[in-house]
Amino acid sequence: MRLDKFLSDMGAGTRSEVKDAIRRGKVCLNGSPVKKPETQVCESDVVIWDGTPITYTVMEYYMLYKPSGILSASRDKKAETVVDLITEKRRKDLFPVGRLDKDTEGLLLITNDGALSHRLLSPKHHVPKDYYVRVDGSITEEMAVRFLRGLEVDKEFTALPAKLQIIRSGEEESEAELTIYEGKFHQVKRMFAAEGLTVTYLKRLSMGSLKLDESLGRGGFRALTKEELAGLYKEMEA
Ligand code: URA
Repeated sequence: MRLDKFLSDMGAGTRSEVKDAIRRGKVCLNGSPVKKPETQVCESDVVIWDGTPITYTVMEYYMLYKPSGILSASRDKKAETVVDLITEKRRKDLFPVGRLDKDTEGLLLITNDGALSHRLLSPKHHVPKDYYVRVDGSITEEMAVRFLRGLEVDKEFTALPAKLQIIRSGEEESEAELTIYEGKFHQVKRMFAAEGLTVTYLKRLSMGSLKLDESLGRGGFRALTKEELAGLYKEMEA
């Protein structure tokens, strides 16, 4: 790969900024300055950018505690996106694995690993997703039974059996945890709407073995640990 492409792929700057820096002698390759942006590099080369070693990262994986009000997209001309919140990213090709509604909070995996994303989202894999949900009325045990049997949401969509655990049920407001095994558009909100309830707050707690690290706080992110990543890969092999 060309040196300027390598550096811009690793997030050192735009292609033209990187070319300019190389020409000004700011980049060393295996101990000597290089001035040609087209110089070829490979993974084993040591590239130093303005005194900082730049290692080749193929894949990046971040857990984001998505706050409400942010778009689940990679880029948007006007609005801030979940990928914009990952301020320490090196790769520019990151995207969210699946989408949470703008007003939904909680766990979102941000990566550039298309194969893992594809498997996590594939309807064949039935990856469980846990949500904490608040609604504007009472949640009943009968409702939990209907969810478990596979709720007919509308003429086109009957949900797969889902587990509804009631935390608190009141006439004005109830709280529950819901586990679903697919990821249809607005699925949780539509399931409750089919029961005559409006979701007033929604937060994703987990996706497969990956659990939201609450200590991140809203808008916080961190790289996945080796164990978390291995857990996701293991699940996808099964
Ligand atoms: N279900 C919804 O309705 N919204 C989300 O953001 C996620 C699941």
